[in-house]
Amino acid sequence: MNLSGKKIVLGISGGIAAYKCAELVRRLKEQQCEVKVVMTDSAKQFITPLTMQAVSGEPVSDSLLDPQAEAAMGHIEFAKWADLILIAPATCNTIAKMAVGIADDLLTTLVLATPAKVAIAPAMNQQMYAHPATQNNLATLSSYGISVWGPGSGEQACGDIGKGRMLEPLELLEHCLTALNPAPKILEGRTVTITAGPTREALDPVRYITNHSSGKMGYALAHAAHSLGATVNLISGPVNIPVPQGIHITSVSSAVDMHEAALHLATQSDVFIGCAAVADYRAADIADQKIKKQGDEMTLTLVKNPDIIASVAALKQQRPYTVGFAAETQDVKQYALGKLKNKHLNMICANDVSQEGLGFNSDNNALTLFWENEQCSLPASSKQELALTVIKAIASKLS
Ligand code: PMT
Repeated sequence: MNLSGKKIVLGISGGIAAYKCAELVRRLKEQQCEVKVVMTDSAKQFITPLTMQAVSGEPVSDSLLDPQAEAAMGHIEFAKWADLILIAPATCNTIAKMAVGIADDLLTTLVLATPAKVAIAPAMNQQMYAHPATQNNLATLSSYGISVWGPGSGEQACGDIGKGRMLEPLELLEHCLTALNPAPKILEGRTVTITAGPTREALDPVRYITNHSSGKMGYALAHAAHSLGATVNLISGPVNIPVPQGIHITSVSSAVDMHEAALHLATQSDVFIGCAAVADYRAADIADQKIKKQGDEMTLTLVKNPDIIASVAALKQQRPYTVGFAAETQDVKQYALGKLKNKHLNMICANDVSQEGLGFNSDNNALTLFWENEQCSLPASSKQELALTVIKAIASKLS
């Protein structure tokens, strides 16, 4: 993989991590690519345009309304010139502007005007990163197809410790190499159906039984399959993730709804992946009215839900390659192998959810993939990275 001949716009917004941009440009230039730097006004408080001009060998652009710059290379040509626009550091203000489409400076205008890949390397205080507004904005950018690289964790310039550090220049270089040398479309012409998120089993008009699944793992699988050229159907339980571009989504609530959608789509699919955390039981009767408090104890009668993935694996005709997940807190391998066998799956992804920071409702995960006579451990990494590895492993098994 290399970056020879590639054209990268590095957009710098105003954060302390901007000081790392000189090193980043140096690393990129070592790869024989062209780099043009765009800075916001506040970025110039952290690193000078002169420094960036010296390391990139190109004049730095910083104004949307500069007649001289527009005469040389107007912002539209600039947007068309790039193979990649990388915004590093991406402050939460710049991220928020991008999420709603504000174009009030050269950098945010380029992002709207470009057909190129766009990636951001967030950098901010850990509390600002964790704020739901920032998290929602990041999810929105992901749903637009913008790649989010990082942030890393550790000590921050403000003295806090946590998530929000910009990735190091060498890590960003690795991401640029991967982004500009895309994987071959090994799933072109294939259809992949994926279940994601939790199910909700109603008890009455206001209450339900559910679990902690956020849908992140299933949505990451959908993105990965799509990036490798597959037509992707995503059957999603209720989650707070924007609908991904280019993916066919079926929104469901209960296990019975998910079962119906899955059986409809499975026979049109080459691969079926059950990543959803499906409730095993539902209420025997859903009360028409809100159930009233009665005494100190109450008993709910639950009945078994259909086993979605076992129904798909049992299809006699047009059966897809069927992959399950097993979220376990103990005896992970043993339970996963039991599910592989009893549900007649081709493959199962064992997910040890007893580990802090992995599994349910987190950004990272670790999996062990099991086939009848084979296994492969995937150490902890982002759900996006894991998803790509899982999908490639599945693709390698298709005839
Ligand atoms: O959504 P996230 O927050 O990103 O978390 C991801 C995850 C932890 C939910 C995911 O990685 C995962 O492990 N999903 C499986 C969750 C689970 O609880 O599986 P299970 O062991 O109950 O079920 C085994 C398999 O049977 C799964 O493929 C499941 O989708 C399927 N199943 C289960 C019950 C049922 N009635 N129908 C099913 O199809």
